[in-house]
Amino acid sequence: MNARDQISINGKKLKNRITYAPTVKFDYAGPDGFVTEKHVKHYADRAKGGFGLICVEATAVTPEGRFAPNHLGLWDDAQTEGHKAIVKACHNEDAVVIIQLNHTGITGNPEFGQPVGPSAVETRSGALSHEMTVDEIHKMQEAYISAAIRAKEAGYDGIQLHGCHMYLINQFISPKHNLRTDEYGKDKSLFGKEIIRAIREKCGKDFLISIRTVGAEPDVESMVAVAEEYVKAGCDYLQVSHGFDSFTEKRVPEGAPYSELCALGVEFYKHFKGKVPVSCVGDLFTPEVVNYIFENELCDTVDIARAGLADPNFANAVLNGDPYVKCFKCQRCQYGPFTNHTCPAEIKRSKQ
Ligand SMILES: Cc1cc2nc3c(=O)[nH]c(=O)nc-3n(C[C@H](O)[C@H](O)[C@H](O)COP(=O)(O)O)c2cc1C
Repeated sequence: MNARDQISINGKKLKNRITYAPTVKFDYAGPDGFVTEKHVKHYADRAKGGFGLICVEATAVTPEGRFAPNHLGLWDDAQTEGHKAIVKACHNEDAVVIIQLNHTGITGNPEFGQPVGPSAVETRSGALSHEMTVDEIHKMQEAYISAAIRAKEAGYDGIQLHGCHMYLINQFISPKHNLRTDEYGKDKSLFGKEIIRAIREKCGKDFLISIRTVGAEPDVESMVAVAEEYVKAGCDYLQVSHGFDSFTEKRVPEGAPYSELCALGVEFYKHFKGKVPVSCVGDLFTPEVVNYIFENELCDTVDIARAGLADPNFANAVLNGDPYVKCFKCQRCQYGPFTNHTCPAEIKRSKQ
């Protein structure tokens, strides 16, 4: 296996196996959540930089589900038009483009009211979240489904449900955060599964449906079982990342250069090999480590976040040996209201 090998996911041909991972750009959208020229350029640059698939950042399905006021949205028909420019820019470079749909749930910003979730649990601010009624759950699912329909209308090749990183879909599969005794508690994957089924029904069999799901919460086996349910419901592609639990078990073989986070994707790949494509993520900062993943047939695709933020041409660096500016791993790109978001790699590139 090679990074340059094409791969087809639900009929969508990826020209290579390097995908640009969803990465929120907080200072790009305005308070209305609309796409701006900055978004279009950001994704066009990564598509030009060789990524075979671009997953557009976590995009809010309701205004209350935003991380912050300046967070990209797809909760309103009026927001659809702007996304067409992102799609066009990526398609012009022969990249497949999908968009990640998200609601913060209990991790919600208190600026937008009391956070909601599967159960009443302590939120970041110390207050309790509101336990959604079944009617409210159905309404929430509708928000994801409507956003997916808008995504299709904008021309996206598919969507990705944000099912990890402690956000709403993750909260439903977490035994510590979903304490319900009804059907949504007894079957923890039901919330996500019903969304997938409805998107498949409304958006058709050719629409790519992906989920970024949790690799271990608390263990890989139970999360593989959840992912199996998503696949049965119609999911075409699994990207694997982390959830609430820190994963302390060592899974990376002695001497192998990839991260423990990546190892979760590798475990999923072993399980889903030949059935559903699986992607791994985490600390893939050099062409050497990316090539190691493929030379050893450890995953179908790799997701690159910070290395691709630092240099949009990172995929071409892997594929063609092009020069690139390395990520400084300074974490300034991470969200924080008081964070200085200036990327030193970007500054270095601008001086070259
Ligand atoms: C600035 C920034 C924004 C991110 N936004 C998202 C996001 O919108 N959705 C998501 O699933 N993960 C998000 N992540 C996590 C990345 O997609 C990725 O999983 C993580 O950074 C590990 O990959 P890396 O080592 O290649 O950076 C973000 C990470 C960064 C650094």
